[in-house]
Amino acid sequence: MYIMGKNIKGYKYPDFNDKITVTLIGEREIFTGYWEKSEKNILNLIKNQIKSNFGNKKISLMDLGCGDGRLLTEFEKYCEHIVALEPDKTRFDRAKERVEQLGLEDKITLINGFLRNVSTNIKPDAILCSHVLQHVPTNEVSVILNGCYNLLNPHGLFIINTTHSRQERDFYVKSYFENDSIIEEKINAKEFNELIVNDRSILPIHFFSIKNFSRKIMETGFEIIDWRIFHVLNRRLSYLKEEVDDYVNNRQELKKKVGRDLLIIARK
Ligand SMILES: C[S@@+](CC[C@H](N)C(=O)[O-])C[C@H]1O[C@@H](n2cnc3c(N)ncnc32)[C@H](O)[C@@H]1O
Repeated sequence: MYIMGKNIKGYKYPDFNDKITVTLIGEREIFTGYWEKSEKNILNLIKNQIKSNFGNKKISLMDLGCGDGRLLTEFEKYCEHIVALEPDKTRFDRAKERVEQLGLEDKITLINGFLRNVSTNIKPDAILCSHVLQHVPTNEVSVILNGCYNLLNPHGLFIINTTHSRQERDFYVKSYFENDSIIEEKINAKEFNELIVNDRSILPIHFFSIKNFSRKIMETGFEIIDWRIFHVLNRRLSYLKEEVDDYVNNRQELKKKVGRDLLIIARK
């Protein structure tokens, strides 16, 4: 089923075809193939949390900001039903194509819209918000957290992947191409918010400090049941190879200072 959201105003995610992200990964990953392996570990951890929270029950999942639907394939087997939301029409159409190719039209409802505009009477057991919150206006983060809290079933899981500040405070960058490589330039919150919608291929990114972000999540009413960092960029740790993510996550102080990305699993 496909539903058109209201007021999406021709929103276009500024990283067309994920060119900025893919180039950045090529430039920064600490060994070839690391990015994908690190993400795979996180997806396995999420699957294990789903299994330990819901047992063999097939759950109702919401994938907020599903992009081209790459994670629908990962999680579909754990679900009775999925509602996937994507505001960018081109990315929404790719997700739609994927769903049709997999023959999952009856299981997956795709909505072309933003969370704030959508009303659904489906109460999800889990909400997945993967690499999305770093690209939304600063004043919308709390709105989305509250919206997700209200939508979720009692004891439902809220699963968030986002960028990690590695400092005490949040900060913002604009990411763009210059001479075929990626520049990441620090900007203030005002400029970040102004760049959320732009047609200059500038990707604004909000890096969340675990201290501020976990406080915000708990203030919404959630209990944090696990958090982990991934996509370590520190080349001095590359000798650890596949073990690098476990190594840093087992050291509480180091954990706060490394890792470009952050996984938080919270429960209502
Ligand atoms: C980096 S992509 C992540 C896609 C997918 N979740 C994944 O992990 O592959 C970010 C996606 O969030 C979407 N997005 C941006 N702002 C949003 C909002 N306010 N509500 C829902 N989705 C949003 C973008 O259009 C884009 O497809």
